Amino acid sequence: MSVFERKLVRDFLHKTGHFCPIRRTLNAQNTATQMNIQPFLQENKDRFISELFELLRLPSISADPTYSSSVEKTAELVAYHMRNAGISGVEICPTPGFPVVYGEVIRNATGPTVLVYGHYDVQPADPLELWETPPFEPTLRITSIHPNGAIFARGACDDKGQFFMHLKAIEAMMASGSLPCNVKFMIEGEEEIGSANLAWFVERNKEKLACDVILISDTGMLAPGVPSITTGLRGLAYMEIELTGPNRDLHSGLYGGAVANPLNAISALIAQLHDKHGRVSIPGFYDKVADLPSKFRQELGLAPFSLEQYKDALNLPDIKGEDGYSTLERTSIRPTLDVNGLWGGYIGEGAKTVIPSKAYAKISMRLVPHQDPEEIALLFQAYIESHAPQGTTVKVTPHHGGHPYVCPPEHPGYRAAHKAVQQIFGKAPIPVRSGGSIPIVALFEKELGVKSILMGFGYDSDAIHSPNEHYGVDNFTKGIETIPWFYTYYSEEFTQ
Ligand code: BES
Ligand code: MN
Ligand code: MN
Repeated sequence: MSVFERKLVRDFLHKTGHFCPIRRTLNAQNTATQMNIQPFLQENKDRFISELFELLRLPSISADPTYSSSVEKTAELVAYHMRNAGISGVEICPTPGFPVVYGEVIRNATGPTVLVYGHYDVQPADPLELWETPPFEPTLRITSIHPNGAIFARGACDDKGQFFMHLKAIEAMMASGSLPCNVKFMIEGEEEIGSANLAWFVERNKEKLACDVILISDTGMLAPGVPSITTGLRGLAYMEIELTGPNRDLHSGLYGGAVANPLNAISALIAQLHDKHGRVSIPGFYDKVADLPSKFRQELGLAPFSLEQYKDALNLPDIKGEDGYSTLERTSIRPTLDVNGLWGGYIGEGAKTVIPSKAYAKISMRLVPHQDPEEIALLFQAYIESHAPQGTTVKVTPHHGGHPYVCPPEHPGYRAAHKAVQQIFGKAPIPVRSGGSIPIVALFEKELGVKSILMGFGYDSDAIHSPNEHYGVDNFTKGIETIPWFYTYYSEEFTQ
């Protein structure tokens, strides 16, 4: 970022009042060392944001091999920022895929150790034409939800802007000498493509990654003024269907009506995947889904939610989902099946009269405790294979998957996150189950035997994976302020 651009950022932040010193009433737990972080944060905010801009300029799209050198460069920039923050033993650890960037600050061999996880890869940016400013040229803009400005760029919220808060929080704590525990960092480059090689890395580096709790900022909060902490993630089973009809594309006049049309057939097959109550029709799909106690469902219903605002934000005439469940339940505690892509035949300019030889679909299923992604993939495969429409053959290929995850609010890490968020946001955070997936989290629990705390700071409206992804400047700075409190409270919980 040029000196001129840095000045632009600084002016923007000043104009929006972002540089007003934060005043907060001290409570008994505010230690002198903690408060020393404030001046450092105030002084360095514009640098932090300009550094984040630099990180966002690298198109680290893990799914597309065209960008692999950018992904590698991003790993190097992450390592550079770790070293600059004062983190030791920084390594770019090779894997069969993109590298994991690792570093640590070991304060005390017997003290608690927190492992921070994040990902430096991002989703593809398409459709490019829907971006108001280019995805890899970060800009600051004011929105109704972010009156103090938001950073627009692919990866701003998911997850560069969020893991970067952790590097800046450590930098601030190292500068003021107030870090109360050991911290390890593991920032990977393949989360958006299923973290297959991170599993490889974790299995081989259990000692290096040994910790008491994992801290992750890769989720969201309910809304401005409604802080929340994620207590669960859904699992995932991702499948692809290839449906074949005739051995070549055919003239739709000469053959139409006499042979199965793969696109008609795949549409019929997909239409059968839900019944009239919005439930998935695959036999056995719900067998392991536990009915949650009504007390839990009542608590979930306490989270503020306006159906009208929800519909408005998405320009929807109405909502649709499984009968008997609220929108919040449908997107958190219930399993789902969605077509993510459907293609075949002619989609070019004008019209071509053709019956395609093949049709394809990509389908994801979000899973809840205690569904097993491998079992669900097999059930899906068996169902599709036995329902191939007359005159067609089907092939089902599983892609990545992951187990669901839940964290009990009684966990000391959760309690520490609760106190830290309350400290900075001024309100007790609400525990929420998220509909998204971070498949590696369940694997951490299995391989390392530790729980992950999902202390994320984005909003659903931040448009992750969509055009115009953004991350609020306030969310970024409040996140940096919250993280040190997590370490403080976690260390307290740990020694109690
Ligand atoms: N950070 C998201 C997951 C997320 C976002 C969880 C918001 C909860 C709230 C993560 O990067 C992601 O996109 N995960 C993928 C799964 C992955 C295997 C591609 C997802 O949920 O689709
Ligand atoms: Mn993410
Ligand atoms: Mn993502």
